[in-house]
Amino acid sequence: MEISPLTGGLGAEVFGADLTNGGDRDAIREAFSQHAVIVLRAQNMSPEDHLAFARQFGPINVNRFFKPLDEYPEIATVIKEADQTQAVGEGWHTDHSYDVEPALGSILRAVDMPPVGGDTVFASMGMAYDALSAPMQGFLEGLEAWHSSRHVFGATVQNSEAARSGRLSNADAAQQDARHPVVIRHPLSGRKTLYVNPVFTTSIEGLGQEESDALLAFLYTHCQKPEFQCRVRYATGDLAMWDNRATWHKAINDYHGHRREMHRITVEGCALSAARG
Ligand code: SIN
Repeated sequence: MEISPLTGGLGAEVFGADLTNGGDRDAIREAFSQHAVIVLRAQNMSPEDHLAFARQFGPINVNRFFKPLDEYPEIATVIKEADQTQAVGEGWHTDHSYDVEPALGSILRAVDMPPVGGDTVFASMGMAYDALSAPMQGFLEGLEAWHSSRHVFGATVQNSEAARSGRLSNADAAQQDARHPVVIRHPLSGRKTLYVNPVFTTSIEGLGQEESDALLAFLYTHCQKPEFQCRVRYATGDLAMWDNRATWHKAINDYHGHRREMHRITVEGCALSAARG
């Protein structure tokens, strides 16, 4: 097995990993913990293999809103057909931050890729935190933010192409609200990490709406710096795994006229602790 970092700070490609007999399990865990995003090349797994691999990291967190794969309720499909225009996951986000115990990570299997494009871009929230000034870090460490599923998966978005085409559904279940520290102590690495994201974070507790909007806008601009990013380009058969507490991600919708099918399994996480105290 060979591990090759994708950038100076985030992500790695893993070549030649044997995921079937668990032989490379410890090395893969170590690579995941170190790089936060790993791409296991050329795995060509079945849905059963995908589930068995995911279960090594914890119980499966069944997504409430994505269309599941037939006969596999624990596997969410992320599909864009050739005649559709909107991709699911186009905005910068981290999966399930609206849950009180947000998901540890997500494992995405490339099932059917367009001839070119359909990458995922990731951003490191540990690097984004480290690059802030000490006074700003101290200020943020005393704050908590609200996250919600309501405005993303609820009734107001039922007119979207993704909902009309059945890719997203179950709007009545979009009732999650959760408050998390703005700077968490990462549960695996212990690293101080920013934990707000443009899609699911709604406000910062205790600030006026204008103050909250301005602070979040500043953080979102800061976190999108290319220095904190890596970009994963897939071939059919690849498997990407990312840490939802350490990163943001965004699906790149640049393959109009072509089909893309991904299968995603999300692994349960835990309540998040503040970096301070
Ligand atoms: C997701 O947002 O979880 C899916 C990312 C992708 O389709 O690239």
